[in-house]
Amino acid sequence: MCGIIGYTGKQEAGPILLDGLQRLEYRGYDSAGLAVCRGGSAHASPQVVKKAGRVEVLSRLVKEAHLRGSCGIGHTRWATHGRVSDNNAHPHVSSDGAIVLAHNGVIENFLQLRQSLEKLGYTFQSETDTEVLANLIALHYARLKEGNGTHNVLEEAVRQSLAEVEGTYGIAVLSVDDPETIIGARKGSPLVLGVGNGEKMLASDVTAFAGRMQSVVYLDDGQIVRMDRDNFSISTLSNESVAPVLSKITWRSEDAELGDFPHYMLKEIFDQPASLENAMRGRFSQDGSTAQFGGLNMGPRELRQVDRILFLGCGTAWHACLIAKHMIEKYARIPVDVDYASEFRYRNSPLEKNTLVFTVSQSGETLDTLEAQREAKRKGYRVLSILNVVGSTMARENDGGIYQHSGPEIGVASTKAFTAQVLVATMIALYFGRMRDMSFADGREMVDAVRELPGLVKQVLAGAANIEKIARKYAAMNDFLFLGRLEMFPVALEGALKLKEISYIHAEGYPAAEMKHGPIALICGKCPTVVIAMKGEMLKKCLSSIQEVKARKGPVIVITNCPGDIPAGLADETIVLPPSHECVQPILATIPLQLLSYYIAVARGCDVDKPRNLAKSVTVE
Ligand code: M6R
Repeated sequence: MCGIIGYTGKQEAGPILLDGLQRLEYRGYDSAGLAVCRGGSAHASPQVVKKAGRVEVLSRLVKEAHLRGSCGIGHTRWATHGRVSDNNAHPHVSSDGAIVLAHNGVIENFLQLRQSLEKLGYTFQSETDTEVLANLIALHYARLKEGNGTHNVLEEAVRQSLAEVEGTYGIAVLSVDDPETIIGARKGSPLVLGVGNGEKMLASDVTAFAGRMQSVVYLDDGQIVRMDRDNFSISTLSNESVAPVLSKITWRSEDAELGDFPHYMLKEIFDQPASLENAMRGRFSQDGSTAQFGGLNMGPRELRQVDRILFLGCGTAWHACLIAKHMIEKYARIPVDVDYASEFRYRNSPLEKNTLVFTVSQSGETLDTLEAQREAKRKGYRVLSILNVVGSTMARENDGGIYQHSGPEIGVASTKAFTAQVLVATMIALYFGRMRDMSFADGREMVDAVRELPGLVKQVLAGAANIEKIARKYAAMNDFLFLGRLEMFPVALEGALKLKEISYIHAEGYPAAEMKHGPIALICGKCPTVVIAMKGEMLKKCLSSIQEVKARKGPVIVITNCPGDIPAGLADETIVLPPSHECVQPILATIPLQLLSYYIAVARGCDVDKPRNLAKSVTVE
């Protein structure tokens, strides 16, 4: 939710900030802006350019503005307080012109603060909580300067202001008096410091500066960073100095590039043979009968004590949790509960003693999941995670976990992160299964099946043209149903979510048998039903559901790995999957659903990578 960026160094800041904003745009794209100070020219007004709309629009304005300066901050917005407008775009400048601020988060007590500041003569141009914080910092800054403070006045003004603030923030602050210094601070919104050769950057995540900075420092909540081109220092809100931990950046900048693909979503769908390979690499035992994980921080003896597992996540990650339940219950025979992280954190649900908690999140920053993780930890449970972003807040606060190694996922609609989450969950099922009742031979069979997965995914992707044709035929429909049984039910939910997110078509996922308990009322010639009908005990049940849809003149799109078992003429369209072990079928069945929603969205002229109202990483409640 909102991306912030800062640069201080020897180069022109404008183009570097714009490049960073483009890479952060997936975090929010209601408006964008940047402010640049000319290094060495103290008291020069910062040059601010901001505009409602995409970074592309901002780029044109920045070119026309001929900005000059080697220090600056930028912002791409996902609106919370205040509508989408030029005035509400960041950065915000305090009414005395002294302070410039970009902010990600929500200042909850902004109204009270605004009223107090108005009484002191500060004025406001926007409806945002951020402008309140800019003025509050300006107030403390002016008072500190009056008291003849010279040393780190801006940092101290930020510290004093944040002590008055309730809510969440990741901020980047400039002052006109010290135009080569940026102050950053975080609480509840991610912020990373990039350390380069004679230059520093600050950003909401490393994708913004991967390739430019050599090292990164992941800031913790309650920390303030002061940086100029040569130095940086980190301290806490209570002004204790913090020794920085420098890490290498593992993502390459080209991982976040589009290449020849028209959209990130399509690129990421086609990345899946490689991203799945990455998720399994090095994670099989030498004898090929089980999985192994380096970062669980729990020994086999402890893991064998686990009586119950609770999976927590949001959105697509929650769907991965539901599949994890099926896999772990089926292969390891451990009972699994799944909860929306946002519900778990408030429900105070009783957990059994030997419950192991897993949080699942691509970004590792989703606030609901992070708070659920914190709540489970407060209650004394061991919390492991399945995460993509290395160094994310969840990664730093959990007790251990498994990285999915999907690389940067830029498309707002999650694709390759989801299939990697499901794969990791399947490997957890194998791991726990082998600790319990699963035989060596069954373990070997499952490992072989998982190893074949990237090749099978390639086969499904080879059928993209057929799926595109089907998508075009149904792109004008306004409602879709997605049906599946058992582990294909969460796959159906994921198919419906993808379609909703990027094409704005109303879509619902159901366990196929539930259709007759209500959703069947929707069925008509204009409401296609996508049925995932796989070989096995549920096939006949799925065929009955298809008959019920056909009897009501509903078009049917079947996704199946046994086309020969589907009576001729029953399905209007058939998407065929290659034969495979049951344990990888949820992943294989997901790929055509991703492609279907992608091509439908394209046919409807939707902005696939930046769907309306959404943001990639939801760091507000
Ligand atoms: O980063 P996370 O995995 O925690 O994100 C959770 C959801 O916000 C996310 O999966 C969302 O539902 C996606 N837009 C789905 O495509």
